[in-house]
Amino acid sequence: MENENQGRRLVVLGTGGTIAGRATQANDNVGYVAGQVAVSDLVAKVPALAACPLDVEQVAQINSKDMVLSVWQALAMRVAVHLDRPEVAGIVITHGTDTIEETAFLLQALLRPSKPVVLTCAMRPATALVPDGPQNLSDAVAVALHPQACGVVVVCAGRIHGALDVAKVHTYRTDPFESGDAGALGCVEEAQLRLFRPWPPAVSQGTHDPAGLQRLLDAAELPRVELMFSHAGSDGELVRALLGHPPTSAGRLRGIVVAGTGNGTVHDDLLVALKQAQAGGVHVVVASRCAQGRVVPHDGQPLPDSAGLSPVKARLALALQLLNA
Ligand code: SIN
Repeated sequence: MENENQGRRLVVLGTGGTIAGRATQANDNVGYVAGQVAVSDLVAKVPALAACPLDVEQVAQINSKDMVLSVWQALAMRVAVHLDRPEVAGIVITHGTDTIEETAFLLQALLRPSKPVVLTCAMRPATALVPDGPQNLSDAVAVALHPQACGVVVVCAGRIHGALDVAKVHTYRTDPFESGDAGALGCVEEAQLRLFRPWPPAVSQGTHDPAGLQRLLDAAELPRVELMFSHAGSDGELVRALLGHPPTSAGRLRGIVVAGTGNGTVHDDLLVALKQAQAGGVHVVVASRCAQGRVVPHDGQPLPDSAGLSPVKARLALALQLLNA
């Protein structure tokens, strides 16, 4: 079982991203195509992996902005299968930076693995003059082989971020992630880990929510949860349009997450429409559009809050909750 972790074997799963990106010019760090280079070729460039017994699988080859349920299903299934192998010490996943925080959140919510599941990425394509991917992959391997490591984390630019807190906060720099008030879990320096706080919560054995995982794997679509902002000049038209829209292939609208202003406040005109949606059975959750902090709960909140989750993670949490309802 998963906690009989005596092996030092690693699994590397490729999903695409800039780390596997290719540009026509070595000095082009933005005009590249993501998800081009095979994960086996990325692995071949990392000396730390040469001595390590390894299984390498290409699960997908996408730009992570295009993440879809079928890729999450394939990835979650392969992660769960490999976690169950006693000889596997940990799993590294190469992924695009743009939705890595959502994939990390999903895997942590479903699996809470007692072995490390380490997502890594790059901001510069594999063809760059100085690509950041090889060092990030090397650091991810150091984390995945650490004897105490567990849970789902993101490793980038020498820092280890927990799945619940990590967010991409910069469009360009090679260290684009922050973990808000919580801060990074630790850092990787010359393959040595320096920890600042505990690893993400893990189950002692197996998978945190096997039924939830199975429901995700069986789902044709995730329950439809839309995400919107409250902003100056907000009105309820978008909500009313959604309510009046016929069901899509994902079915009828089941939930709305609003990235509210400040402490989760919502424009009065938008609130009227959201209350109307709620009365019609649509689940409404308020997060904050602030990059840091959380919605601090207080009496008289007009709508339930996201319990500290960012808007994109709150959307996923609500979809999972509705899938399991
Ligand atoms: C992606 O998310 O797949 C492209 C962008 C990146 O990896 O930085």
